[in-house]
Amino acid sequence: MKNRDSVKSMPRSGIREIMDLAWRTPDCLHLEVGEPDFGTPEHIREGGVRAIQEGKTRYTPNAGIPELRAALAEKIHRVNGYEVDAQQIVVSSGAVEAIYASLVTMLSPGDEILLPDPGWPNFRMMADLLSANIIYYPLRPENGFLPDPQEIADRITSKTRVLLVNFPSNPLGSVPTVGLLKELYEVAQAHDLWIVSDECYDQIVFDGTSPSPAIIDSDGRVISTYSFSKTYAMTGWRVGYAAVPPQVADILSKVQEPLISCVSGPAQYAALSALEGPQQCVTEMVDAYRSRRDAALAACNESGLTYLVPQGAFYLWLSIEHRDSLKFALDLVDRKKVAIAPGSAFGENGNGWLRISLANSADSVVKGVHAIAELRAES
Ligand SMILES: Cc1ncc(COP(=O)(O)O)c(C=O)c1O
Repeated sequence: MKNRDSVKSMPRSGIREIMDLAWRTPDCLHLEVGEPDFGTPEHIREGGVRAIQEGKTRYTPNAGIPELRAALAEKIHRVNGYEVDAQQIVVSSGAVEAIYASLVTMLSPGDEILLPDPGWPNFRMMADLLSANIIYYPLRPENGFLPDPQEIADRITSKTRVLLVNFPSNPLGSVPTVGLLKELYEVAQAHDLWIVSDECYDQIVFDGTSPSPAIIDSDGRVISTYSFSKTYAMTGWRVGYAAVPPQVADILSKVQEPLISCVSGPAQYAALSALEGPQQCVTEMVDAYRSRRDAALAACNESGLTYLVPQGAFYLWLSIEHRDSLKFALDLVDRKKVAIAPGSAFGENGNGWLRISLANSADSVVKGVHAIAELRAES
């Protein structure tokens, strides 16, 4: 019996190798995982429990319950600064599924998608599942790891359909200026590309905000995807959403039917409680990530390590000066009992770098930085 080639050849996430070794290593410090270390706030959990007790346990509309879609349209206005109607919101099973469903609507086998390198490995896996061809656009240290619109334009062919951007970036924590977004938008416009904008960390920003390309979308080419996972520490509930141009909303809702039919009803009610309840929990978590970032940066400065200052998300991107990332990460578990994500897991341009997750206490993050500095001095 035969499997589909694109699925067979799809590489596993490069972080998995480290995680597997780390879980076999007693007392290993886990700084490799991209998941908040906070529990879901109580009022949100209660919202989910209440929905179950009230019997709201049936299928919901494909695009989500109307109350949640309306609350999300209001959130987009309040937080992301652009207008959408509730009809333009499609609730998804995590942001990951909103991105996949969007790509399903845009990419035929053999079409090209522009992906960031370094970037979140799941983008590549999705393109592989769809038998799309990946064209990586490099994010370079000399540009502050931000995309260069000209380099992107140079890679576009008649088969290119989608430009995917991710800000604040995983693994980089970088945030663009509105000026850069305008330049990227002009490139997409000139070549009639969709822009899929993964803004899963939109509310985890340390100074100011992370602007969305949708604020400059004059001709309906931007699909923005968001998540409850990081903002409200709700990774296991699996609720995300897409805000899409009016002409895409019905197609995307239709695609939900064969993919997931709908998101779990109680999880959608929990998400509604997140939006309607106090937002203090978000501020507190962001404050915690910021102070851990600052502690980690101070430790890097003491140890002479080079890094990119993260402006959002909860990762610190550190240089190990051209050493092999995967080997370094495996040695770090073996010799220092510290697990981090090798930069190479995020693409070729990530080699020579490491990603430390700030989803751990300040003491643990500082301990991780010191372990990296020690191993760097020894190797
Ligand atoms: C860049 C990025 N996009 C999307 C996601 C998906 O988040 P979720 O599916 O939990 O909403 C993640 C999760 O780690 C991520 O890092």
